[in-house]
Amino acid sequence: MSLDKEIKRRKTFGIISHPDAGKTTLTEKLLLFGGAIQEAGAVKSNKIKKSATSDFMEIERQRGISVATSVLAFEYKGLKINILDTPGHKDFAEDTFRTLTAVDSVIVVIDVAKGVEEQTEKLVEVCRMRRIPIIVFINKLDREGKDAFDLLDEIEQKLQLSVTPLSFPIGMGYDFKGIYNIWEKNVNLFGGDSRKNIEETIQIENIEDVQLDQIVGARAASALRENLELVHEVYPDFDQHAYLDSTLHPVFFGSALNNFGVRELLDAFIAIAPEPKPKESSTRVVRPIEDKFSGFVFKIHANMDPKHRDRLAFVKIVSGTFERNTPYWHVRSGKKMKFSSPNAFFAEKKEIVDISYPGDIVGLHDTGNFKIGDTLTEGEDMEYKGIPSFSPEHFKYINNADPMKSKQLEKGIDQLMDEGVAQLFTLDLNGRKVIGTVGALQFEVIQYRLEHEYGAKCSYEPLNVFKACWIEPSDPKNTEYADFKRVKSKFLARDKSGQQVFFADSAFTLQMTQQNYPSIKFHFVSEFN
Ligand code: G4P
Repeated sequence: MSLDKEIKRRKTFGIISHPDAGKTTLTEKLLLFGGAIQEAGAVKSNKIKKSATSDFMEIERQRGISVATSVLAFEYKGLKINILDTPGHKDFAEDTFRTLTAVDSVIVVIDVAKGVEEQTEKLVEVCRMRRIPIIVFINKLDREGKDAFDLLDEIEQKLQLSVTPLSFPIGMGYDFKGIYNIWEKNVNLFGGDSRKNIEETIQIENIEDVQLDQIVGARAASALRENLELVHEVYPDFDQHAYLDSTLHPVFFGSALNNFGVRELLDAFIAIAPEPKPKESSTRVVRPIEDKFSGFVFKIHANMDPKHRDRLAFVKIVSGTFERNTPYWHVRSGKKMKFSSPNAFFAEKKEIVDISYPGDIVGLHDTGNFKIGDTLTEGEDMEYKGIPSFSPEHFKYINNADPMKSKQLEKGIDQLMDEGVAQLFTLDLNGRKVIGTVGALQFEVIQYRLEHEYGAKCSYEPLNVFKACWIEPSDPKNTEYADFKRVKSKFLARDKSGQQVFFADSAFTLQMTQQNYPSIKFHFVSEFN
């Protein structure tokens, strides 16, 4: 098959949600439809169970499982679907943000009773920033929940998305009768008492058809007609360009657990979701159809076996074909590298592949050469942008607890930071090292891994920092910036790449500093050019 055809048949996307909204269940149902798994319950999710939040060893064990579910690929109606799994646990939010740099679209799962939750807001904000096309799936319609219009309002307001429903529920919870599919113009009836299956799908070309009254009852039919009229008046018609442009977002209703509305979601998804897209690099926009291979590392997973420090680097292919045993150019180090056993992912298995195409993810064994954000090419000197670090939420000084092992400690910290476990800052004033993390859990993970994988010991000391901001002066030579650097010298640090960072100890300090130094920009993300 030609490169063009291979690209056109690929859809690479992520499913995001607040924990417990149903991401794992939906993923599993999509795999069932794709025939990639045979029974429900087969997917050991990347999900970190709530009960395990205080037990990080258990979390590490579960993270091991997540290697297998990092990418779940399957074939459906002649298309190759790649689902990139994202951890729901908020302490691993940064992993999710990075995975979002490798998807071409997302499906957001929302619990009908809980509506838009905190984690959904954060993740959707990142998608909005990147203009990723979003489909919303409102889940758990078999339970009592919020009114459909209220939910649509909530999504528009809290997530700042303009939406258009492509399906609409008929009743809810105990009265849930089924779903009218605006996209396919049919009614899916929810199965009788067992509530486990779709009883039948009935084509209703015209909503005024009396057949509808016979199927769902006169009251439900007339309520549905009113609701659909309102939908028509209030929401724009679906427009694929607007969806691909990320200015209009279709909404589907269903119940992942009961397989309800899932096939409809998948069929609409394959009809509208984008194929692999061009990507901007430091020098130019690279198109998937170009013959020369290029790709970037968006995730690094450490091996769970402490005796072997090898890691798996996940590379998203942007252009051309990636071939086994072919030398590629590692742009940051300026070295050629060859991979004899690149892994591709199928449902829950990984296999060695000879050739992969744009949109695909390959897992490359790495002994410490890769860093998140690295670019591979066939020789071209360009780097993909767009894997920013976000301001951490927790900060601690890190000290060497075993002076005989300072080399090991340095190497360990270096590699863990390359993996993106946390961020390292060095204070300008005294060169002390500070670790910043998104979740409190990572401190324990770092300490444990330094000891078990690198034979080094560390201790922490508290540090009161509210946010780390990347600093951009309008003119590095002006007196305002010089004044800022003098007054705030105790709070200035460098990140790993040498960028200047300001540690604000409270929201108030941050606000005052912003007011006092209007010519300086304070960024909460490391990439701002
Ligand atoms: P997550 O990955 O987003 O965290 O959510 P997950 O799929 O694990 O689902 C969270 C809980 O919600 C699970 O129940 C799951 O069975 C349930 N669920 C998912 N979809 C639906 C639905 O359509 N209707 C209803 N009623 N429940 C749904 P649990 O009891 O927490 O876990 P489990 O023991 O069933 O795995």
